[in-house]
Amino acid sequence: MEIRIEKLEHIREAARQFIAEMGDRKVFAFYGSMGAGKTTFVKAVCEELGVEDVITSPTFAIINEYYAEAQDLTIYHFDFYRIKKLEEVYDMGYEDYFYSGALCFIEWPELIEDLLPEEAVKVSITEKEDGSRAILF
Ligand SMILES: Nc1ncnc2c1ncn2[C@@H]1O[C@H](COP(=O)(O)OP(=O)(O)OP(=O)(O)O)[C@@H](O)[C@H]1O
Ligand SMILES: [Mg+2]
Repeated sequence: MEIRIEKLEHIREAARQFIAEMGDRKVFAFYGSMGAGKTTFVKAVCEELGVEDVITSPTFAIINEYYAEAQDLTIYHFDFYRIKKLEEVYDMGYEDYFYSGALCFIEWPELIEDLLPEEAVKVSITEKEDGSRAILF
């Protein structure tokens, strides 16, 4: 499945399309180079899901937790960019999140590839020359 985002102002519509395809899958791994738009897209999806608190890039904390009150939905947003050793991931108790049944959106999953649940959905985001983005999964 491919979702195109021609312009940033169309991202909420793209997020809605993505949500419509999620089904009951819970763990989504977002691949894409630096600046591809992973955080921006995850943020748009969370907003479409009804998260109201300000969502900032989790780059300085490995994990951010969001809550969509209307749906009683918990979302964990991970950014493993700064991970230096897998030990840090074990220490944060990653299994308690990945297998919790809550939604998990993961940036830089390639850094913890061996720890990803088998059922994790691989999503890739690429920036095209014209600045548009393609979301493939
Ligand atoms: N769909 C889009 N259309 C146009 N610009 C976008 C889009 N998505 C993100 N951007 C812009 O690209 C820049 C980088 O976005 P973002 O921080 O989401 O990337 P990232 O993939 O999370 O990067 P990192 O690997 O550093 O975490 C931001 O300035 C953002 O506004
Ligand atoms: Mg990011």
